[in-house]
Amino acid sequence: MNDENLWCLKENGYQAGLHKHYEGLFTQGNGYMHVRGSFEEGCSDAPQDEEYLRFPDNVTLEKPRHPKSKQGTFIPGIVGQHPLLKEEIINLPYVLGLEFRLAGETLDMDRCRISGYRRWLDLRDGSLQRSFIWETAEGMQLQCTYSRYISMADTHLCIQRVQVAVLAGEGRLEVKTTLRADVRTNGMNHFARIVPSAETVGSLSLETLTEEGNQIFMLSALEVSEVMNWQADNTRTTAALRGECSLQTGDRLTVSKLTAVTTDRDMEEGTVRSRACTQLSRARDLGWEQLYNRHADSWKSKWQEADIRIKGDDMAQLSVRASLYHLIRSNREQDARVAICAKGYAGEAYFGRYFWDTEINLLPFFLHTNPQAARNLLLFRYNTLDGARRNARNYGYRGARYAWESSLSGEEQCANWQYADHEIHITADIVYALCHYVRATGDNEFLERYGIDILVETARYWCDRVDWNREGVGELLGVMGPDEYLPFTRNNAFTNRMVKFSLEQTVACMDNLEGGNPDGYAAAAERLDIRPGERELFRHTAEKLRLPYDSQTEIVPQSDDFASYADVDFASLWTDRSRPFGHFISQERNYRSKALKQADVLELMLLFPQEFTREQLKAAYAYYEPITTHDSSLSAAVHGIVASWLNQKEAAADFLQRVMAIDLSLEKKGAAEGIHIANCGGLWQLIVYGFAGLTSAMWSETLQLQPRLPEGWEELSFRIAWRGERYRITVNPGAYEVHKLKGGNAIAGTAI
Ligand code: BGC
Repeated sequence: MNDENLWCLKENGYQAGLHKHYEGLFTQGNGYMHVRGSFEEGCSDAPQDEEYLRFPDNVTLEKPRHPKSKQGTFIPGIVGQHPLLKEEIINLPYVLGLEFRLAGETLDMDRCRISGYRRWLDLRDGSLQRSFIWETAEGMQLQCTYSRYISMADTHLCIQRVQVAVLAGEGRLEVKTTLRADVRTNGMNHFARIVPSAETVGSLSLETLTEEGNQIFMLSALEVSEVMNWQADNTRTTAALRGECSLQTGDRLTVSKLTAVTTDRDMEEGTVRSRACTQLSRARDLGWEQLYNRHADSWKSKWQEADIRIKGDDMAQLSVRASLYHLIRSNREQDARVAICAKGYAGEAYFGRYFWDTEINLLPFFLHTNPQAARNLLLFRYNTLDGARRNARNYGYRGARYAWESSLSGEEQCANWQYADHEIHITADIVYALCHYVRATGDNEFLERYGIDILVETARYWCDRVDWNREGVGELLGVMGPDEYLPFTRNNAFTNRMVKFSLEQTVACMDNLEGGNPDGYAAAAERLDIRPGERELFRHTAEKLRLPYDSQTEIVPQSDDFASYADVDFASLWTDRSRPFGHFISQERNYRSKALKQADVLELMLLFPQEFTREQLKAAYAYYEPITTHDSSLSAAVHGIVASWLNQKEAAADFLQRVMAIDLSLEKKGAAEGIHIANCGGLWQLIVYGFAGLTSAMWSETLQLQPRLPEGWEELSFRIAWRGERYRITVNPGAYEVHKLKGGNAIAGTAI
């Protein structure tokens, strides 16, 4: 494969049925804003303004609407209220609008005669290209080439260019460019006011005010290579300019559209309008080439830290880059008022909310490639501590309880009681991530300044949430662990271990701070109103909290009551394995059965590897894997890592295929509703923790590897940030090398 094939996601030939999948997969963005990969001209029979009421449902099993196309423009932080589903990220007006018409025929991929269609997302610079030949009913032939990107350097800018070359015929081409607010979010219109405007000098703007009071301003400037007399063609919801020019064989027309997007949440000074004007005039001063170079350089420096190179498996190479692309794109490390939502800002599913995915699946990638981004994700949790305090109060507890599905301010948004009430491990997952960050970076200041508040407040919640049995043992009852197919269990091993860890870390942090920085501790004690005896209570609860296993347990049980659930005859029930198991069983039956949605005990073993023997790991894998449905996209990567640790190379390779297929599979149209961003982080973990065998920074101060490359992989190499230093790791079959960047000697070892 040449370089382009290892860096470009391609759509060869247009199929209407796959359009929505590519809209998700080709989402472009820069942390500040994200736009799905829709066509500039839209799609026939795919209205974007359909109003309907979406009801609370299990997202995994829900049948999504909009089979053909769903446009999406998202700015993290711009949210609205849904009457039944609570807070949701708003799908903002469509910036990309650019339509062509020739002799009454509107360009449309479904209705026109199109040949040579190709579209590709270049992951190196996040630019999306489309080219095809349009043969009109009147016999005119036009070669159309589209290109667009959302600047990684000048984050308010969206840059588009279309070239039309006339291969044969002549006619008058009508060009229409729009900014359109006739869009909906899960069927809802969130706009209270829409002000479209168009100036015949070639600029258009759209100001929208959301019901929550946020202002979004979009300002486009057009440049065309032919003289075009623009005419305003606005509607109540759309700003539009229309122009015409005559073309004949050999002519070329270039239309460029440069759009600045600003909102009242931006941190820069000035009004939304003045800032958009400044952005645009600055961009025009820079010129197209410099604008592009700034953008491309910014992507280049991100890739330098994040890229993973694989020799010998081109498919894995391209897949991992697709995942890394979406991880890089979703991150906005300059703004701790937002984090990364479960669909990576590439769709409306999961409503733009924050789950445990961030801490457990995404964080390791950022810790080791961009520690500042990891810090920002944790700072978001610190900034939403008050919301977590309110959640605890609402449930009748002290302290702070993080939301299963967090709003921008930290409050619970999950509309399904099972998860909202019982999937409580999220609160401890955040503490695990906090400690992981501090250990991987050595940023103790973060712990002392922000972390301690999270630790103490969540510890208070846990002390209230624990029940004490007659033997004086602490228990966590009525718990949903990571496996969401058992909603109400007793002492879930994963949850209890995480809570115990969380309490232990709180006590250790308080001890260390008091010993090492008494003033810092005194300030925290005052701020948090730490009472005499509280630390003792945390210590006692940590010590006495039940773990449903010990080092002798052969098969670590998922929960105390796991063995009592009903066995499932998968062969007779699950007749079509290409669809989730959850579609083949009622919820009532599922909730009393031994069918796992996702890794649970195995996730525990991944997070605490040193606490389990190899025999326990092996037994857990052998027992749980056959009864795990992998209905959750978070499951396959964990299984792949464990299989790799067990040196079960075939199984690990199978899981690698599954992980890669989650967003890329055309059969499943995996990315249609957005990107499974947790799985993107999971793929990074599968490669780094699984195949390179890196010991987690949580459990090792030094960089340690135990590589096990999949069959056929000739070389795996990547960079890693570790405690303030950067390293390059290269693994070949049978050998590996760790090279400290900027000075230092290489460390070599052997791989399995
Ligand atoms: C999974 C959860 C996950 C959520 C968001 C669900 O299907 O079971 O573990 O947090 O999706 O990705």
